[in-house]
Amino acid sequence: MPRLSEPLFAGRTAVKDALAATGPCNSITVCGWVRTRRDAKGLSFLELNDGSCLANIQVIIDEGTPAHSALELVNTGAAVAVRGALVESPGKGQKWEVRAAELLLYGAADPESFPLQKKRHSDEFLRSIAHLRPRTNKFGAMFRIRSETAFAVHEYFREKGFFHVHTPILTGSDAEGAGEMFRVTTLPLGGAPVAPSSGASGASQTAENPFEEDFFGRECNLTVSGQLEAENMALALGKVYTFGPTFRAENSNTPRHCAEFWMIEPEMAFADLRANMDLAEDLTRTVVSRVLERCPQDVDLFNRFVDTGLLNRLDTLIKEPFARIPYAEAVEILQKSGRNFEFPAFFGTDLQTEHERYLAEEHFGKPVIVYDYPKGIKAFYMRLNDDEKTVAAMDVLVPRIGELVGGSQREERLAMLEARVRELGHDMSLYWWYLDLRRFGSAPHAGFGLGFERLLMLLTGVTNIRDVIPFPRTPKNLEF
Ligand code: 4AD
Ligand code: MG
Repeated sequence: MPRLSEPLFAGRTAVKDALAATGPCNSITVCGWVRTRRDAKGLSFLELNDGSCLANIQVIIDEGTPAHSALELVNTGAAVAVRGALVESPGKGQKWEVRAAELLLYGAADPESFPLQKKRHSDEFLRSIAHLRPRTNKFGAMFRIRSETAFAVHEYFREKGFFHVHTPILTGSDAEGAGEMFRVTTLPLGGAPVAPSSGASGASQTAENPFEEDFFGRECNLTVSGQLEAENMALALGKVYTFGPTFRAENSNTPRHCAEFWMIEPEMAFADLRANMDLAEDLTRTVVSRVLERCPQDVDLFNRFVDTGLLNRLDTLIKEPFARIPYAEAVEILQKSGRNFEFPAFFGTDLQTEHERYLAEEHFGKPVIVYDYPKGIKAFYMRLNDDEKTVAAMDVLVPRIGELVGGSQREERLAMLEARVRELGHDMSLYWWYLDLRRFGSAPHAGFGLGFERLLMLLTGVTNIRDVIPFPRTPKNLEF
């Protein structure tokens, strides 16, 4: 590799900024990966991409320049730095191009073995090379959108007066009570205690504590939700949110589930179910509209190549209020739909994805919030309604995906909450601090969880969750 007295990348300009230049420039350095190389008589062309934006910058290398003599191993995939002049491009499709004086090859990519040659690859194939797929147009766009979306979420909450709180990843309680947790232990394999078969709750410190020898002296799992701790913080700071990774050992290999996913969980004190629905709707619409504004080229790629109905659908989402119906009404709509669902819908059953999609996609043609679910299918912490059959729960269902948000007003009445914990057979002693919040200055409060990957599926039209997170974790898949 040629050695220069100073690194060529010093003072480099991002391709994004070079393409947005307001005038020509005598000396500019751009770095990136070669997307294509084309040789013509007397000169060569490189399309260079540095990940800063979807577009490449064209580099012209004239024969006889030092840059031209450095071209030998420069092929698709190679990492290079180019110094030259930024000049107006006579070609179509770009305003500026670089006329190279110097070129430095950092890393070649053998054309025989480099998998990302210039052609369209299937999503399945690209998943098998998740370490290289961010260098494709589609996945570069995806991960830029992912970053911008996360930023828009933080920005939204900050503007609305919410505090960002960090909730633990290692936990001793199961917020959802669904028992789909990953055990964490420092005991040798085979020596780890077996959780009591009582299901969701796990063991506490009893006389014969089976976790005595383990790191925490009690059962520990990766969190399935930061909700319980977020409630705790909301009942002190008023309005908070968490935005962190959550882990579920559901063995469902669906296009909408990951074992590790990111969840946005706001929690508000002095708020009820209606305020909760308003927040979920406003958050979703605001974030979508800001990402459309800020990532027009990247979103347009998905509209052109992945889902041609994307921009129309997002436009409706931004402009029209979401539908809102009680669960009982949703069941009626499903029953009257004349559809042959795989799982028949009747009061008391959980809505399946086919039901959720029918409601959002076909019946309403836009997102719909379903609320007041039967208590039997929902978690212990949801507030019992006066009918004593339903709880103040809500799910936001969106076209093509189904459930985007799940939330509720929380049970703030101590006796009612204790009764629910007992009814569901959870270990009361694990929740002492959570119950304390109802003993000392209890207040109505509500919150929800919005699946960040599902939000990205909504924003891009991508139908497989494995393609919206850089390194997906799904059953039997822990590569990278
Ligand atoms: O409906 P869920 O299970 O709700 C909760 O966890 C509550 N504790 C949230 C709260 O009230 N603070 O999950 C919330 C959302 C779902 O609507 C879905 O978008 C997403 O999290 N989600 C998943 N996303 C990807 N992979 C999975 N396995 C998911 N499970 C849930
Ligand atoms: Mg849910």
